[in-house]
Amino acid sequence: MDHLINKRVKNIEISGIRKFSNMVANRDDLISFTIGQPDFPTPEHVKKAGITAIEQDFTSYTHNAGIIELRKAACDFVKKKYHLNYSPDSEVIVTMGASEAIDIAFRTILNEGTEVILPGPIYPGYEPIIRMMGAVPVHVDIRKNHFRFTLEMIKPFITEKTRCIVLPYPSNPTGVSLSESELRELADYIKGKDIFILADEIYSELTYDQPHTSIARFLKEQTIVINGLSKSHSMTGWRIGFLFAPENITKHILKVHQYNVSCANSIAQKAALEALTTGIDDAQAMKNEYAKRRAYVYERLTSMGFEVVNPDGAFYFFVKIPDSYNLNSFDFAINLVENTNVAVVPGSAFSEYGEGYFRLSFACSMDNLGLGLNRIEKHIQNKK
Ligand SMILES: Cc1ncc(COP(=O)(O)O)c(C=O)c1O
Repeated sequence: MDHLINKRVKNIEISGIRKFSNMVANRDDLISFTIGQPDFPTPEHVKKAGITAIEQDFTSYTHNAGIIELRKAACDFVKKKYHLNYSPDSEVIVTMGASEAIDIAFRTILNEGTEVILPGPIYPGYEPIIRMMGAVPVHVDIRKNHFRFTLEMIKPFITEKTRCIVLPYPSNPTGVSLSESELRELADYIKGKDIFILADEIYSELTYDQPHTSIARFLKEQTIVINGLSKSHSMTGWRIGFLFAPENITKHILKVHQYNVSCANSIAQKAALEALTTGIDDAQAMKNEYAKRRAYVYERLTSMGFEVVNPDGAFYFFVKIPDSYNLNSFDFAINLVENTNVAVVPGSAFSEYGEGYFRLSFACSMDNLGLGLNRIEKHIQNKK
């Protein structure tokens, strides 16, 4: 029956991150720096809100866009934190994680042959959906621009077919964010053109040096903002995301969401409400811990001679593989795990523009960071 499978689906592959993690998962004494989710439990009061929701039989379908209290809390959250103004009634949809928000946004705005500009390296969650729509991903190689996806980099790739620019900041895998002036410049240029901005801001609560700025502040009419609780509140398994956009866009996206999932999980919505009200600053304690780890890992990696950009946000270092290795990123990661039992994600999992790098996640304990980095250091020394 294989010949009956949809051709576009047949042509996409499972994420390189998963592929690599699955390959190395069963090794003894493995230290894994491949993790793409917080290593903290969901805050206790948030878990309790979920339990209470079950006990009170809050287990039915909700409004397609999500319960109104949660939509209000989500709009209040982005107003307080990022100065964004959205109406809870018509400009926000509660989704099943940021992943569903990305999917329904693309499925609403893309047509066959439409071009979507993305930075490379990039999180692998966008390209397959773009391809399934018959649209065309156009990557901009930002390796030579310290991973900055600025207007200057983007401009040469804009054509009359461009309908969307993906702006994922802070970035997975590089940790790089864009400054307010860079975002303003981009917004001014795009304003009035037939181009959407898909701003994936799932790591917005995890910025270390500057508070997060959303491009929607300067270009609300053309922007779809994706956010959620997976990273800020360590709620990856609860599957709660948010999509914010003007009503003339959300009214169409809501149809796709409705026929896709009806609504987000009712119990998780109650937990999310607790997270965005009582727990509005829950990310702070985790962020303080990540900040300590970031400083430690930066110091260790640079003293070993690795070329790295210190991440502005998220919990990843995207590290250049030394030329002396003469290995592509997949073979480097295999070589590293076989010699040291330390797993990192090959850069090629983040598009072909991640080649030459590996991603090291610091969403793991200080003890494991220390042990793993000691092993890497020994390996590097043996190589010299
Ligand atoms: C940039 C980016 N966007 C979206 C997601 C998916 O988030 P969620 O788990 O809320 O679907 C991830 C997960 O790693 C991510 O890194």
